[in-house]
Amino acid sequence: MIDVGCGSGRAVSELSSSGFRAVGVDISPEMIEEARRRSPGTEFLVGDAYELAVPGGFSGYRVDKVFHELAEPERAVSEARRILVPGGRVVLAGHDWEALVIDSSYPALTREIVRARASVVTAPRAARGFRRLLSRCGLCEVSVEAVVGFFGGGGGGLAGGAGRGWDGFCCAAVLGLQGGLRWGEWGIGPDSVVRLA
Ligand SMILES: C[S@@+](CC[C@H](N)C(=O)[O-])C[C@H]1O[C@@H](n2cnc3c(N)ncnc32)[C@H](O)[C@@H]1O
Repeated sequence: MIDVGCGSGRAVSELSSSGFRAVGVDISPEMIEEARRRSPGTEFLVGDAYELAVPGGFSGYRVDKVFHELAEPERAVSEARRILVPGGRVVLAGHDWEALVIDSSYPALTREIVRARASVVTAPRAARGFRRLLSRCGLCEVSVEAVVGFFGGGGGGLAGGAGRGWDGFCCAAVLGLQGGLRWGEWGIGPDSVVRLA
């Protein structure tokens, strides 16, 4: 099994622990260094989804939250086909950046944040196109499973800010969009909301 865009390597580590031969590949040397630190003895390589530095012979190819960063997804799928044995499986996972379901007290602002965030992603709608992509690239028996992710309430969700919930995240995001703060910086409340230009 190969995990492309493996990040810090959690899935690879879990697959290895379950007895699979698993290799993690990521374009970021820092991520690979961190993956090796967290899971010594597991195989991690720096590499590009478009040109994997492995000869082939894999029965499984997985990516999770990576295709939204790829401008040429067909090239990546073609590379997946190159390294897979006949009958091998491809699993693409990811979220649609335009289809986030968020419950906040600021619906208009939330819509604007989702739109603004999606607009800086290379391929924000990649996930909804997985079936078409795989079929177009010649894979057969393609199936899709859609899960609705819900974010809202006090704490948790993508933002993960205990007790602050999505409303606090809206504040952080607006400030982030205006260049004042990075996403995920905390310690601000509803009074900090500022208008988008
Ligand atoms: C959002 S992270 C997801 C990490 C991991 N798959 C997970 O689910 O936690 C996206 C990862 O894809 C990597 N990545 C982006 N473009 C890539 C490319 N062309 N080839 C390989 N990895 C890439 C990034 O370095 C990053 O580690």
